[in-house]
Amino acid sequence: MKASPWKESEVQFICDHFNVDLTASQIAAQLKRSYDAVSCKIKQLAADGKITRSQKIVQIRPTATVPYIPPKEEAPPVSPQKVWRLLTHSPQTIYSIADQLDSSPRAIREAIATLEAEQYLIESDGQTVRKYEPEGGTSSHFPHNPIDLDEYDGKLIRFGVISDNHMCSRYARPDVDNALYDIFAAEGITTVYNTGNWIDGEARFNKSDLNVHGAGNQCRYFAKNYPAREGITTYFIAGDDHEGWYTQREGIDIGKLAESYAREEGREDLIYLGYMEHDVVIPADNGQTVIRLMHPGGGSAYAVSYTAQQIANSLTGGTKPNVLILGHYHKAEYLYYRGIHMVQAGCTMDQSPFMRKKRLAAHIGGWIIEMRQSSDGSVRRFKAEWISFFDGAFHENEWAYKMENN
Ligand SMILES: [Fe+2]
Repeated sequence: MKASPWKESEVQFICDHFNVDLTASQIAAQLKRSYDAVSCKIKQLAADGKITRSQKIVQIRPTATVPYIPPKEEAPPVSPQKVWRLLTHSPQTIYSIADQLDSSPRAIREAIATLEAEQYLIESDGQTVRKYEPEGGTSSHFPHNPIDLDEYDGKLIRFGVISDNHMCSRYARPDVDNALYDIFAAEGITTVYNTGNWIDGEARFNKSDLNVHGAGNQCRYFAKNYPAREGITTYFIAGDDHEGWYTQREGIDIGKLAESYAREEGREDLIYLGYMEHDVVIPADNGQTVIRLMHPGGGSAYAVSYTAQQIANSLTGGTKPNVLILGHYHKAEYLYYRGIHMVQAGCTMDQSPFMRKKRLAAHIGGWIIEMRQSSDGSVRRFKAEWISFFDGAFHENEWAYKMENN
């Protein structure tokens, strides 16, 4: 007979059956304990008020009809990590893992559920379990061709940008023009691109803003006074407004006229490229880099970048330049959009009465651009430095001067 500690199930068996359908000796036989041990436990339970020893037996049945079935022993939990270490990429049955860990299938299933909840890469159908490899989408695959860093260290291209000088207007800023060219020279710049409106031109509504009148006179003024610096060549286009008004109205090729006057003045540093738009093409080993100079039309949008974005949107694939320099809007901005490095060139003119009435700000200054040309001509590194100046004269006394003269 056993002398082991009492299990809860045995105690419950006594409570359920003593003096109900079994006697103390029958219970002792069922529990495989001595009569004395059972009797002692009954006394203890009675003292605790859990059973009544004097309780009348309702019906005593043969012992065989109410066998005591000891409860199954609960298997201790299994460490999920132990299960993980046993897994292979081919399926194994949960029973075989339970055998290997000397545990129960239920404990193995619980360990598997824990691993699944912790996002381990396992797969189980309830009977078998295996490890699996993640299958990434195409976006998670590394590109087949490694990045060639030499392409990011190609030929260095540097140039200055200036635009919308509006020379011959009272609102022009020759001080800014000359300061910018001094900075370009100090920085070793040899090429400057000008994207138009280098003179103010002449129309009915700007006559009172002009210091110089007439196409010839304005071009002569430009040829004499546009900044010249040793070693710097300026390549310019003409806008179809301001200087372009002469072209539209009188049919004069105003850019050619300005260039010819520059030659008469002995200047070889001013080179006219074209009307409204010109592509500067710089050959590369296996392609070319296109820098498009443009003087578009239309008014500014309220958002500085909006018009530039619309221009980029209007370019069809295959005709897009690598770099787009935009004059006309008198705004300064660098924007990388649709794969194009776009620069709005700014201006070197104070806010005119026209711009003030239209609530248009003048961004006064110019740029130094540095970029690297890859072997296919693409531009993968681009640095844009804005050199800014401030609008002052207009607010101080220009209005008063204009009022006195009206
Ligand atoms: Fe302009």
